[in-house]
Amino acid sequence: MESVPGTEDVFPEESARWRAVENCARAVFDRYGYGEIRVPLLERTEVFERSIGASTDVVQKEMYTFEDRGGRSLTLRPEATASVVRAVLGRGVGQGPWRLHYMGPMFRNERPQKGRYRQFHQIGVEAIGGVTAATDAEVILMLCDILRDLGLRKTRLLLNTLGSPEDRAAVVEAYRAFFAARLDAMCEDCRRRYRTNVLRILDCKREDCRRAVAAAPDVSSVVSEASHDEFRRTVSLLQAAGLAPEIEPRLVRGLDYYVHAVYEVVHEGLGAQDAIAGGGRYRISPGGTTSVEGSGFALGIERLLLALDAEDARPPGTPPPDAYLVSPGAGDLDDNFRLAHELRNRGLRILMDIEFRSVKSQMRRAHRSGAIAAVVRGGEERSAGFAVVKRMDSGAEQRVPEADLASALRELVGRRQAAAHRAGDGDTPC
Ligand code: HAM
Repeated sequence: MESVPGTEDVFPEESARWRAVENCARAVFDRYGYGEIRVPLLERTEVFERSIGASTDVVQKEMYTFEDRGGRSLTLRPEATASVVRAVLGRGVGQGPWRLHYMGPMFRNERPQKGRYRQFHQIGVEAIGGVTAATDAEVILMLCDILRDLGLRKTRLLLNTLGSPEDRAAVVEAYRAFFAARLDAMCEDCRRRYRTNVLRILDCKREDCRRAVAAAPDVSSVVSEASHDEFRRTVSLLQAAGLAPEIEPRLVRGLDYYVHAVYEVVHEGLGAQDAIAGGGRYRISPGGTTSVEGSGFALGIERLLLALDAEDARPPGTPPPDAYLVSPGAGDLDDNFRLAHELRNRGLRILMDIEFRSVKSQMRRAHRSGAIAAVVRGGEERSAGFAVVKRMDSGAEQRVPEADLASALRELVGRRQAAAHRAGDGDTPC
């Protein structure tokens, strides 16, 4: 039976790459002092409605919302910013400043296609409390550090400002005035957006609408001088750190909570769904009363892996085993089972056959596993307290006393690591 459309099973060869990406991100978060928060996958529906905005596509048509047995409306989280803000409000924003990161599944009922899923996974960051232009820059730097450490090169960082909440009325007014005379030539969705959320028109993909948008004023031309200064500071901090953000004056985001700096990282190898990550400064009030200012981003893991594929920059997969323990006779199995357990407890990666296969078949498996050595231990070796260590590359054999086996294997592992490092394979991302 197949999985639900828009959801995917991830098997070990792939999940090892996921882990490499997650570990890389964790290493970056550690360097910046961002701790992990784990928030529930389920929230009260109003948490998202109030935060993301009632007129957004996410709230209008993409949420998995249902009534539980007690008649409460619950939603599988379509993103985690609203949940994190809710959680922080519960503890007290003043207990912060909060510098948090998270990883996990999100759910949106979108039409599935390459790079767009109904269950997808994000790595995200939320800085809440004490947020300034430097916080925006710090958050963006973390995102770019992760992408760089993973070896991704063909990304562009697109950046814009939406101005302060106080600027919003003027921005909306300017766009309403501009689009009013052009509405007849625009799509039905944009005519609705004109009333509910005029900035979203800037993001319409239809040809007619894009023509109108091309002549529209930049958001930044309408915002106040103070908002400009705020934005310029973020840009200059990023430039001083060696980044080259591209100012994209028509960039708006699909969620309504953003103010000031907004951005997306796009990748040229991804086609229509080219945004690997998005974020910005936001103001949210998930409880409907206190509003909270934060700054954050979310990175889509599936799209990131597609981008890494497109660049052939694969993060490391599962490391191969150190040794494969071969049992020549069925009678050797139980004692070798014990030995494998002992060696694993001493930190070695050991595979062994526990299905009574022939020695030939076990040796074939040992080769295929990528193990450095096969450890052959039959009745004769067991009674003499030895094992035969056979190197898979050269075929060289060595009789090793059982008590010295772990250190002999560790030495072989060390030699392989040193050789890989000399060959440059040791420079794995992160
Ligand atoms: P978002 O732009 O909706 O922002 O999502 C961020 C990233 O999640 C996207 O750039 C994309 O890589 C991935 N993504 C979104 N939808 C899908 C999907 N259906 N299938 C696969 N990947 C997807 C947010 O979610 C905000 N909460 C980001 C943020 C955090 N802003 C401030 N803090």
